[in-house]
Amino acid sequence: MPVITCIEDLKRLYRRRVPRMFYDYAESGSWTEQTFRDNSADFAEIRLRQKIAVDLSRRTTAATMLGQEVTMPVALAPVGLTGMQSADGEIKAARAAERFGVPFTLSTMSICSIEDVAAHTTRPFWFQIYTLNDDAFNQRIIDRAKAAGCSALVITVDLQILGQRHKDLKNGLSAPPKLTIPTMLNLATKWAWGLEMLQTRRRFFGNIVGHVEGVSDPASLSAWTAEKFDPALNWDKIRKLMDMWGGKVILKGILDPADAEKAVAAGADAIVVSNHGGRQLDGALSSIRVLPHVVAAVGDRTEVWMDGGVRSGQDVLKAVGLGARGVMIGRAFVYGLGAMGEAGVTRALELIQRELDTTMALCGETRLADVGRHNLLLKKGFLDGYE
Ligand code: GLV
Repeated sequence: MPVITCIEDLKRLYRRRVPRMFYDYAESGSWTEQTFRDNSADFAEIRLRQKIAVDLSRRTTAATMLGQEVTMPVALAPVGLTGMQSADGEIKAARAAERFGVPFTLSTMSICSIEDVAAHTTRPFWFQIYTLNDDAFNQRIIDRAKAAGCSALVITVDLQILGQRHKDLKNGLSAPPKLTIPTMLNLATKWAWGLEMLQTRRRFFGNIVGHVEGVSDPASLSAWTAEKFDPALNWDKIRKLMDMWGGKVILKGILDPADAEKAVAAGADAIVVSNHGGRQLDGALSSIRVLPHVVAAVGDRTEVWMDGGVRSGQDVLKAVGLGARGVMIGRAFVYGLGAMGEAGVTRALELIQRELDTTMALCGETRLADVGRHNLLLKKGFLDGYE
């Protein structure tokens, strides 16, 4: 086994192990993938200020997210089809997150169901829903999440319609994969993944199959979005979903300070500055560039988090330096999961925490609450380069 020192190492292993269709699903953006690339590239633009001779003997990455104590302010984002990256993937990721002390969010488009994940974990996790035009389904899935003890609801607000994902269209993405000749040829080289998949019964969208009427082909995200997602979404409907839940709510997919204001007015406990990992509106700004503007608008009234492009603890520190109270990671944990299952998710979290700790220390900080703009060096125009 090669020595793994960074998230990129996990990605290399992941690519070797997992069928092309699912690797591509995770490792792609929409259209030209400009925003997907910018999410990481803009983090790399930010430089750090070194500080020396600070007493670093007592330092911690611990923080809180929504009042919950966390080992570091890094939550696992909802990621569809996680159980296709590794058999029973959502259960593995949830267990790794629980043991590490960070929140796990289960996607509606997961392979393992809410009840299954709850049965294999001991602490509450968060549940994500989309904004569907089916009140009965919304009510049912919210009731199921409540019954499973979920402690917060993440509402994805940037997916009324699905972005054009060229790789998924070309690959004919579905769960389980349809056995076309190119897919079968690729699967033949992924025997370890295949053996694992044969041993689980969890190979379909566990939250949907058997729970929705009128969806002709629940095997694909595109069929599901075309039939059930709400093109007529508005803030009243978002508020209605929040009321149905009645507990803590995180609105994910905010990319505009004016929308952030509306989210606060609606009563969001936290918002996630997000372009959906570059998977929705290609050409949108990277999340890290938008973050400081949203923080300036509403950061004193709600917790502002971000996702998109976070691949290291250094990125976490940069986001915190620009005002985020936390971040979400999607691909970074999926690489670990696909590479090494549950141990790989743990490894990804350990890497990020170690990088965060080392970076904080070399920047002369001992607590994330003290990290700020003073730790960062930004190129002129970084904060206002677009009009
Ligand atoms: C689902 O939300 C996706 O981005 O694939």
